[in-house]
Amino acid sequence: MLIRPRRLRKNHKIRDLVRETTLSKKDLIMPIFVDERIKKGKKEIPSMPNQYRFSVESAIEECRKIADLGIPGVILFGIPKYKDEYGTSAYKKDGVIQRTIRGIKEELGNEILVIADTCLCEYTTHGHCGILKDNKVLNDETIEILSKIALSYAESGVDVVAPSDMMDGRVKAIRETLEENNYHDVCIMSYAVKYASAFYGPFRDAAESSPRYGLKDRKTYQMDPGNWREALREIELDIEEGADMILIKPGLPYLDILRLAKDNFNIPIGSYCVSGEYSMVESAAQRGWINRVDAIMEILLCIKRAGADFIITYWAKEVCEYIK
Ligand code: PBG
Repeated sequence: MLIRPRRLRKNHKIRDLVRETTLSKKDLIMPIFVDERIKKGKKEIPSMPNQYRFSVESAIEECRKIADLGIPGVILFGIPKYKDEYGTSAYKKDGVIQRTIRGIKEELGNEILVIADTCLCEYTTHGHCGILKDNKVLNDETIEILSKIALSYAESGVDVVAPSDMMDGRVKAIRETLEENNYHDVCIMSYAVKYASAFYGPFRDAAESSPRYGLKDRKTYQMDPGNWREALREIELDIEEGADMILIKPGLPYLDILRLAKDNFNIPIGSYCVSGEYSMVESAAQRGWINRVDAIMEILLCIKRAGADFIITYWAKEVCEYIK
């Protein structure tokens, strides 16, 4: 035998030398839940062991730790004290996310990139990502509100807004609003491809954002898991509308979409390894059914191999310990 691929697997030095993909701390973004109702400290999320909802103050402290670990950014999700049909708490000057952004920027400046998820579902009584009327989620009315939210985050000092609602035309509406108000350098990281997935369950517990009345799911705006050509179309549109980076979500079940996106578009692409993926691994590991750390590292490496330039993951903080 002349050709033996196993020669290159002989020991860890040679494996290190020929490894095609590596994971770096610089690839990671840590999600942070900020709960306006928590006055002090943090509360564990029951369906997401080791993940917390933070008070504004403690979220800022958490960002300090994350920055010190060498993670480049956080993505913020807010749980407001007060919800209404239109999600008005999302664009208040002293809203939970606005206060958190200002606090992080005062404390840390450019030591950490602050990304704000831009959506209505945590802020509406019905739990939908847009305005609900006669059992429909209205598109054009919603993008006006999303633009207001994005502007308000920009005024608070955000680096990146990340619209996750899946309304049509929202990237253009947000970009125009930001430009008109001279926020030329606030980036848009759009959730260009977001599937109507069962893997958001634990997040909706954490953010109290499940659809509560009207439509019982998000299938009229999030994508059908069977579609891949539609994903290309969504990305194309978001790029045309002015997105600076795009996200594909969830992570692991959609690696083919990541690869397609990478091969077809010249734009930074992130993958969101979502709450259900997190809790699936955590629960199996708790029962001793998988090796937790190995599984986590494999998942993140494979997401990167599939084409992700960066990964939003609840394991970001922890994996810094394992990445040398
Ligand atoms: C808000 C939003 C969701 C997630 C991120 N932004 C929930 C949803 O669409 O229902 C899910 C993230 C996760 O599951 O980790 N629209």
